[in-house]
Amino acid sequence: MDRRTFSQLLAFGAGMFSAAHVEINAAAADASAEGAGKSEAAESGTANHNAWPASPVTISDFIPLAKAKLPKATFEYISSGSEDEVTLRDNVEAFRRIRILPPLLHGVQRTDLSTTVLGQKVSMPILLAPVAALRMFHPEGGRASARAAASAGTICVTSTSVGNSIEEIAAAGSGPKWFQLYVPSDRELARKLVKRAEAAGYKALVVTVDLGERKDADLRNRFSLPKDMLLKHLRDIGHTKVSERNTYDELVAFNAKAWDVSLSVDFFQWLRRETKLPIILKGVLTKEAVQQSIDLKLDGIVVSNHGGRRLDGMPASIDMLKEVVEAADGKLEVLFDSGVRRGGDVLKALALGAKAVLIGRPQAWSLAAGGETGVKLALEILRDELTNSMISSGFATVDDVDASLLMSAAQA
Ligand SMILES: Cc1cc2nc3c(=O)[nH]c(=O)nc-3n(C[C@H](O)[C@H](O)[C@H](O)COP(=O)(O)O)c2cc1C
Repeated sequence: MDRRTFSQLLAFGAGMFSAAHVEINAAAADASAEGAGKSEAAESGTANHNAWPASPVTISDFIPLAKAKLPKATFEYISSGSEDEVTLRDNVEAFRRIRILPPLLHGVQRTDLSTTVLGQKVSMPILLAPVAALRMFHPEGGRASARAAASAGTICVTSTSVGNSIEEIAAAGSGPKWFQLYVPSDRELARKLVKRAEAAGYKALVVTVDLGERKDADLRNRFSLPKDMLLKHLRDIGHTKVSERNTYDELVAFNAKAWDVSLSVDFFQWLRRETKLPIILKGVLTKEAVQQSIDLKLDGIVVSNHGGRRLDGMPASIDMLKEVVEAADGKLEVLFDSGVRRGGDVLKALALGAKAVLIGRPQAWSLAAGGETGVKLALEILRDELTNSMISSGFATVDDVDASLLMSAAQA
């Protein structure tokens, strides 16, 4: 459902809302009650329409809704960044620093957002990023995200750690899917995962190379996967030796040893031999890493600092995009993530040469707020905002977008 339908429903009355939207609005009511304390209406005894919870109109509107629905530790697991959160903040602020200066009298009345990503047609250059533990945010977890992406006509990139098996996600919806690989230290298990992803119809492998997460909030909150989810995750990966009989501590210890925490060039040479699927390396910020990816004959890269969840102090991803695109020189496809909160951010990333962007937290917050409907709405909001930005800037298609929109440092 798009924003216009949403506001029409508001005008027609709450009785017409679908169950999921009532859910979103109820969470908004709780969130605003929590934020505002005692309402003016309650004090004066009159109706206060300003206090009436509105439907989300921006990505940031999903944040209080997610907060109201989730335990504190889970909400902070999604929203926080590593250490002092310098990179987390900079990802968002760097987009705000970029100024755009569109031409006037361009006569563009409508725009076509469709494009292709590694040969796959998508309705817009916005994909769902791989996000772990989606089942902690909503019972439907990765299945809801996969369905939302399918109905929006875009790609869902499913995390190895999503909380549903490769096959469960594949069965959830008919839309295009890519599989994000965290690499089991048992290479045979890694091979089986790749083969399972191929058999289940995933169209590309995204290998995340910026590994190792240490976030103060998670340490303070003692954030952890519940035992049943951790066990299911390990069994979904293919670890048949772990079972209900193991204690939680045993499962945690097993999990800690189950993954490669640093990959090298050898791994990609091996993977290239194992699969014909396109391989995309996620976590690139430098031209040197681009050259390595080209040398390894990879198909694409994601310019990403993992949304500020890895090494704090790394630069904002958007500040590195231009250099990476120049180094890629059209030899591989450049995707982008970290800090995208607005359709206008997508436009800026396209102007700097990205083929498409991925969204992490916006997906997680909207999933928590309203399941599949929430994610669909988040994607529609970004689509609407991008459409508006494109028309205002005089771009009729995604391929038309170029750097002429951006103010130079001298102008700014
Ligand atoms: C809760 C959460 C879990 C994540 N889990 C994964 C993961 O399992 N694999 C991965 O490659 N990236 C993971 N990421 C990183 C995202 O794919 C993406 O790089 C990042 O969220 C982009 O920044 P954004 O949140 O500002 O959009 C996760 C991000 C979040 C917020």
